[in-house]
Amino acid sequence: MTKLSPSILAANFADLLPDINDVKAGGADYLHVDVMDGLFVPNISIGVPVVASLHKATDMFLDVHLMIDRPHRYVKAFCDAGADLVTFHIEADQPQDIYAAIKTVKDCGKKVGLVLKPQTPSELLLPYIGLLDMVLIMTVEPGFGGQSFMEDQLPKITAVRRMIDGLKPTCELEVDGGVDSVTAKLCKEAGANVLVAGSAVFKKPDRKAAIEAIRNA
Ligand code: DX5
Ligand code: ZN
Repeated sequence: MTKLSPSILAANFADLLPDINDVKAGGADYLHVDVMDGLFVPNISIGVPVVASLHKATDMFLDVHLMIDRPHRYVKAFCDAGADLVTFHIEADQPQDIYAAIKTVKDCGKKVGLVLKPQTPSELLLPYIGLLDMVLIMTVEPGFGGQSFMEDQLPKITAVRRMIDGLKPTCELEVDGGVDSVTAKLCKEAGANVLVAGSAVFKKPDRKAAIEAIRNA
């Protein structure tokens, strides 16, 4: 069954817990936490202290998406704060530091994944795929919620599904950006098994119905 990871970027930052409990009760599998540094992306969101507070406040699986420059500097801090899965961008670090960051997350006993921006070719994953628990394909330019789904990313999702099936079948394939009850169907058909959705869940009055509509698309 397709997993849902609602992104709290579209939730109420002044009062997160009711929103989180709402999506948990609505059947969400993971909680997607978007970390932005104003450097790798042109926006600033939240950081380590918020992840630590979320970890104390909920038992949901924390799917932490780092949109930060040179993530190897911070992956341990996010693991220690309580992230269950840490994903970071393949464009954001040198290869030796990508390897180091993957090892750090694994040594912390957490799951690890790499993220590809829309212009980044899937072949760049090849050296790392055997080490990964997750690949995250962006279907918008990272930085902001509420953007339109980029259908031109569908062939890349299909290509990564093939790569995963051939080289690391336990690796999950997540899609992030513009996912709603219409575009979710395209993602699933292309081979995604985890869908991130911000606006299409938190901006809807009935979160359970929104989650089910995306899951069953
Ligand atoms: C964008 C973030 C996404 C964002 C998705 O940079 O990585 O997780 O919250 O928001 P929607 O679902 O509204 O496109
Ligand atoms: Zn995200």
